[in-house]
Amino acid sequence: MKIRVLGSAAGGGFPQWNCNCRNCSGVRNGTLRARPRTQSSVIVSGRDERQWALVNASPDILAQLQANPVLQPARAPRDTAISGIVLVDGQIDHTTGLFMLRESTRPLSIWCTDSVYADLTRGNPVFGILAHYCGVQRRGMTPDGSEFAVDGVSGVQWRALAVAGKPAPYSPNRESPVPGDNVALVIGDDGTGRTAVYVPGLAAMEPTLWRALQAAACVLVDGTFWSDDEMIRLGLSHKRARDIGHLPQSGPGGMLEWLDKLPAGTRRILIHVNNTNPILDEGSPEHAELTRRGIEVAWDGLEIEL
Ligand code: MLT
Ligand code: MN
Ligand code: ZN
Repeated sequence: MKIRVLGSAAGGGFPQWNCNCRNCSGVRNGTLRARPRTQSSVIVSGRDERQWALVNASPDILAQLQANPVLQPARAPRDTAISGIVLVDGQIDHTTGLFMLRESTRPLSIWCTDSVYADLTRGNPVFGILAHYCGVQRRGMTPDGSEFAVDGVSGVQWRALAVAGKPAPYSPNRESPVPGDNVALVIGDDGTGRTAVYVPGLAAMEPTLWRALQAAACVLVDGTFWSDDEMIRLGLSHKRARDIGHLPQSGPGGMLEWLDKLPAGTRRILIHVNNTNPILDEGSPEHAELTRRGIEVAWDGLEIEL
């Protein structure tokens, strides 16, 4: 099984179009040691490397497809290696790319929970719009750890676990979140029995997810913010990381403390990194601290083989 990172940044990307924070202006004018990153998405393949599951459809999907020729196998006048699409939530950064796939010659097969289905048919009716183009074949995904398979992606088993998070502002569940607004994906290789956990949005650690992380060979976890008040300190927002559904890395109970408690052999990767996060600066003390702790920062094009 292979997991390839298409986009390692959070919503907005890096640099973000209108942002002049230290990171964004530094990467724009070349004074910062950092790589630009597109918005949040990964792909997964099993035994057949010509068939991939697209996990989240980012606003940057067209650039991501161009950067990853493996997704264009060119076996027919119209062709794609994307066999199915799995969504972890109904947020803009994970769903806007669906519009860009409207030329598909068959309905898009999309695995999502009932609450994400509600977001995408009521709050932001992407699926209704796509019905006028290629259409959507919605596939059920329950956030209780039941196994499912993505057609075409053979040798890979999937499980979705509800995690604490925040549904999108347009979600019918915005003020009263329900299990399934945000999920972690446990992605397992049939052959090796090894699993990876992909959880780009996570507000708090809960026992079920923690057990899955401890059992995994590789974890790709919410790397949005370094500190809870990061956006407030920079004068960019009044909201704390935890208020918008993201557990910060530093501080008591933060992601670094959790990652330190994983078994020694677990590969630890931060993903969905916001452009304000100091870990994007490869010369920063925060980046050095990650290196010291054996934690990686995902980058676009990173490939993991399990
Ligand atoms: C999030 O992860 O909190 C959202 O994707 C934010 C956004 O809308 O960009
Ligand atoms: Mn996001
Ligand atoms: Zn910025």
